[in-house]
Amino acid sequence: MEERLKWFVEARFGMFIHWGLYSLLGRAEWVMYLEDIPREEYAKYASMFRAERYSPDEWAECAKEAGMKYMVMTSRHHDGFSLFDTKYSDFKSTRTPAGRDLIGEYVDACRREGLKVGIYYSLLDWRWDAYWKGPDDVKEWERFLEYVHGQVEELCSSYGRIDVLWFDGNWPYKPEHWRAEELLSKVRKLQPHIIVNNRTGLPGDFDTPEQHVPWWAPPQRAWETCMTTNDSWGYFEGDRNWKTPRQVISTLVTVVSMGGNLLLNVGPRGDGSFPPEAVELLSHVGAWMRRNGESIYGARGAPFTTTVGPVTAKGSTAFVHALRWPGKRITVARVGNSVKSAYLLATGKEVKFVQEGSRVHLEGLPALPPDPYDTVIALELDSEPRTPGR
Ligand code: GLC
Repeated sequence: MEERLKWFVEARFGMFIHWGLYSLLGRAEWVMYLEDIPREEYAKYASMFRAERYSPDEWAECAKEAGMKYMVMTSRHHDGFSLFDTKYSDFKSTRTPAGRDLIGEYVDACRREGLKVGIYYSLLDWRWDAYWKGPDDVKEWERFLEYVHGQVEELCSSYGRIDVLWFDGNWPYKPEHWRAEELLSKVRKLQPHIIVNNRTGLPGDFDTPEQHVPWWAPPQRAWETCMTTNDSWGYFEGDRNWKTPRQVISTLVTVVSMGGNLLLNVGPRGDGSFPPEAVELLSHVGAWMRRNGESIYGARGAPFTTTVGPVTAKGSTAFVHALRWPGKRITVARVGNSVKSAYLLATGKEVKFVQEGSRVHLEGLPALPPDPYDTVIALELDSEPRTPGR
């Protein structure tokens, strides 16, 4: 694996932030397009953008408390509103009553909390006619590309070290139309350690399954599932469909057992504050991570199977994730190792077990699950986990 990806696969859990002018309208980030709001009308919201409760230190603290190791924040979404002081546009946060470079402040806050810094950038911009007309209108397209490339260069040269550049919105055009090779080589020149996703249309460093766990074909390299905490990326006032801590934890451990990361989204309100439901959810996830983070950070999948949930592993320790509690007994199958000891990861309390060839029976378990979401049982093995006969 590339050196620059090491921290990323170790981290396993990050926070995605979708925040922009659309957050004021409270109907998520596609509102301008889906309601077909004319540009001039949409632009009027800029005069109401105050970001009065924007405190990136609080965001970063919340991410850290949730057990996350990195963040990725929208610097400009499809609506064209830049959250940084770009010289390529006046439609930006520094030209609103907020009057702040929100990205600059965010980068500093991440650094202060020891989180890796990711920036999301949408190649497409609905406000440009050139985007809609396409690359055939060579002159206009070139002007558009100058803007896109220029903004990316600004992001890579104004805030010190950036760890992740998270592109989006290349559709419906090809990498060559975006001059993506050239763009990425500029990026790497400015930020030699940076990792980039696959949404310029070029492979980049990691894949980005969206809103799902890639059950049938997990990528054979670094990847990250991005997922919303309710049904929306950008703040949607009426969206009450919040995920439960159990759903989030279940997705996280499943993704890790398949060798991937989870980038979990929060859509702050227009004023910059996190919805309380998201904060509440993350606090439960964080409490679980404090008890069980060892089964997540730097972990990958183990080839064992159970009926209760996935199995992750690090070195010669396997972690059985009991998302469903069977009471009394759990059987772990396809164990090619000899198990030396078993214990509850959260408390260190010993778990009795009987090994019957490649099947390990964890016994004498309490009738009710010790953890409300996922009880993790660690198995110390004689070596890295392997299936029998290997
Ligand atoms: C999609 C959407 C976008 C969101 C992104 C997150 O591409 O267009 O609104 O930012 O997915 O993965």
